[in-house]
Amino acid sequence: MSELSRIGVAIDSDLLEKFDKLIGKRGYANRSEAFRDLIREELVEETWESPNAAVVGTVTLVYDHHVRLLSEKLTDIQHDFHPYILSTLHVHLDHDNCLEVLVVRGKAAAVKRIADTLISTKGVKHGRLTITSSGSDL
Ligand code: NI
Repeated sequence: MSELSRIGVAIDSDLLEKFDKLIGKRGYANRSEAFRDLIREELVEETWESPNAAVVGTVTLVYDHHVRLLSEKLTDIQHDFHPYILSTLHVHLDHDNCLEVLVVRGKAAAVKRIADTLISTKGVKHGRLTITSSGSDL
């Protein structure tokens, strides 16, 4: 870690009160850690805006495996993009529904394309790409 810098921030009292309540609910021990996390969040978001940036993320899918050929389609898509998919987790939620979580790594544009392709497949009830960072730049 590089050396610490101290900054002063002028902020509206009402806004600060709301912020303190929020970070209290989230379990932050102090404002500094909450500010650092907000800054890191924005830096990660910004990385994902560069198509060629190397990124890491997860794709979460919920679908009904009884939908005709859906499981096969989702598997085919994953094989098409196999170099980007590091791992998958499949949970049978109930009689009908499956949860799948994929860990993906690659260039931002490719990872987004994989997520969009899977999530937009007919029969997928809910899907989300969660963007994160390898951590080395934060
Ligand atoms: Ni299942």
